[in-house]
Amino acid sequence: MQEERLELSFIRAKFLELSLEEQTLIKNAKSSFKNAYAPYSGFLVGSSILLENGEVINGSNQENVAFPSGLCAERVALFYAGSQYPKIVIKTIAVSALSKSFDINNIVAPCGACRQVMAEYQQKQNSEIRILLHSPNDDVLIAHSVQDLLPFMFTSPLLKKH
Ligand code: THU
Repeated sequence: MQEERLELSFIRAKFLELSLEEQTLIKNAKSSFKNAYAPYSGFLVGSSILLENGEVINGSNQENVAFPSGLCAERVALFYAGSQYPKIVIKTIAVSALSKSFDINNIVAPCGACRQVMAEYQQKQNSEIRILLHSPNDDVLIAHSVQDLLPFMFTSPLLKKH
């Protein structure tokens, strides 16, 4: 038996330290949470995806009175990208949130299901997806890859038959 340690790498930055391209992507995520439909949680989330061809896809959380039928902002954007641009690489996804009911003092980290969906697309396209998590006080956490948000991720090679 032996104890092992995992090293995760990420960058903490201020919004203004980012490249203009990434600042714009975060601004898009912020504008997208205005389209959130979140009457049950009051928690507005916006996500914005930059594709390799320069196309930008925005998503926001869409809730439902039957709670599990709703969907997070990240998956709304990711599934749109997957269905409209199946062959185009996803370079970066930015996420930002706002809530009237809760204080958001920190970055909003994607839920496990959204991380798993990111993992699937990263595996499919065979190149890393960069993730920018933005807080209302303009702190940004940058993950270079989905691995850094989802260690031990479950990916399709695990299902390969011998
Ligand atoms: N939500 C997102 O859209 N993304 C996240 O990363 C965290 C949670 C949504 C789901 C639900 O509509 C609301 O925020 C409260 O959980």
